[in-house]
Amino acid sequence: MSHPKTVQDYIRTIPDFPHAGILFRDVTTLFQDARGFRMAVDQLLSPYVGARIDMVAGLEARGFILGGAVAHQLSKGFVPIRKKGKLPAKTIEQDYALEYGRATVEIHDDAVEPGQKVLIVDDLLATGGTAEAGIRLIERLGAEVVGCAFVIDLPDLGGRARLEAMGVPVHAICSYE
Ligand code: PRP
Ligand code: ADE
Repeated sequence: MSHPKTVQDYIRTIPDFPHAGILFRDVTTLFQDARGFRMAVDQLLSPYVGARIDMVAGLEARGFILGGAVAHQLSKGFVPIRKKGKLPAKTIEQDYALEYGRATVEIHDDAVEPGQKVLIVDDLLATGGTAEAGIRLIERLGAEVVGCAFVIDLPDLGGRARLEAMGVPVHAICSYE
């Protein structure tokens, strides 16, 4: 009998997207499968059940899909950390480097309260630049990032070590060496 599919089994790899040499880990095939999506959300939030979390923050774009589901399941609010120019009210911004290119992310300056405990959610951890920018935004608002949860870790790119060096615990469901 074949073993039941794991979360990783639902993820597809697209070579040379968006640039030559990048193996793009595509979670759309995970999200479109009801069982896969539920498993991913359940496994993302499992370390935080019973922990004090006041808010879930999602990193654009796939972190919105996962973070919204995690926030709903934990009965917490959700705040978006968005690419520059998308949020309508007063924001603070943070520049960062990507695996390919540079970008700026923003958060509304009233999205979290000082002292709140925030869980950051995204689909994938590569260099950690995006998550580090998200952590900095939340910390600049006086809140605390108690964890970062990802479906996928790419450990060779050093993101986990980078976030852990900032004192933020990392949880990832699966990894690609
Ligand atoms: C991807 C991914 C993470 C980030 C990880 O998003 O969803 O947010 O890259 O890379 P890092 O750890 O090196 O920062 P992308 O920047 O492609 O944006 P998108 O989700 O809006 O397509
Ligand atoms: N973001 C950064 N690197 C990525 C990769 N290899 N696959 C999917 N998203 C990414």
